[in-house]
Amino acid sequence: MHNFRKIKNNVYYVGASDRRIELFENIHHVSYGMSYNSYLVKDDDTVLFDTVDISVANAFFENLAGALGGRYLDYCVIDHMEPDHAATLAMLAERYPETRFVGNAKTFQMLGQFFPSYSFADRCITVKDGDTLKTGEHEFTFVMAPMVHWPEAMVSYDALDKILFSADAFGTFGALSGNLFADESAFYADYWTDARRYYTNIVGKYGPQTLALLKKAEALDIDMICPLHGPIIRENISEYILKYRIWGSYEPELNSVCIFCGSIYGDTMNVSEILASTLADDGVRGIALYDVSKTDTSRMVAEAFRYSTLVFSSVTYNNRVFPPMGELIDDIAALGLRNRSYAVIENGTWAP
Ligand code: FEO
Repeated sequence: MHNFRKIKNNVYYVGASDRRIELFENIHHVSYGMSYNSYLVKDDDTVLFDTVDISVANAFFENLAGALGGRYLDYCVIDHMEPDHAATLAMLAERYPETRFVGNAKTFQMLGQFFPSYSFADRCITVKDGDTLKTGEHEFTFVMAPMVHWPEAMVSYDALDKILFSADAFGTFGALSGNLFADESAFYADYWTDARRYYTNIVGKYGPQTLALLKKAEALDIDMICPLHGPIIRENISEYILKYRIWGSYEPELNSVCIFCGSIYGDTMNVSEILASTLADDGVRGIALYDVSKTDTSRMVAEAFRYSTLVFSSVTYNNRVFPPMGELIDDIAALGLRNRSYAVIENGTWAP
């Protein structure tokens, strides 16, 4: 049973969602599942933009076969080689022996690493930044997007329908539920919470590279953004680009205080509550207080990106910082968050 969807003229969604997944990348909580998007354009030649995670391989191949309607698959563009999009490439190559694979030099190096026993050799078309592929009416331009989110990442621009196939960029956590477009889907009410959590945790380390991609995107006339995760964006595109510019620049979105607290018996939490109350009495609005033992680290990382001022309030443990607080601080440091005011509260009975 296939479930492919037409999204514009001869452009089809052939991806699928995994609702059983608990942790994306086996680390980030995704209580609403995860979508792995893949797109097919049917022109004189047919061209597929990326495959999917192995967890949704069956649905994907049914969707692809249904959308092709008996036609050959002429090209598969590999915008990103991470296995959540590329794990099914060898299966695709076996099912569609006529398909040629389009990627850059780094793409094909990784392809060999992931599929050492499968030879793609005479089926690979290597492209560089700005190269194009004409499939009939459509002409696709390939734009390198290194480190958004792996070194080989690139995006593809369809000049006919003004679609940017944006790889991981502009994606978000969560399964798709019938409505494929952000303005129609359940995401719309609270899109930014998970989009921010996705960006900051997955791509957050690569702010300068994100800005470099946005600069290239500025030159394109974009009507629709088709990411590899989450809903398709076709309205208020400038708002999404602005958010990415803020996140990529490590600028806070909220001039307020976020307190992260690690407490064992509740005393350090009491101090943190008193701090929050005092700040509120002083007129600070939008204060947040998180218990680091109870809150998903990816959510707190996203909040650290959102707030202007961070407080780390923690007990000591084995002569060092309380482990859940240590994990949060390590993550924030690894992601290169900057441009924040911060304060530290330490608490320990005998070895603070
Ligand atoms: Fe969705 Fe970097 O993979």
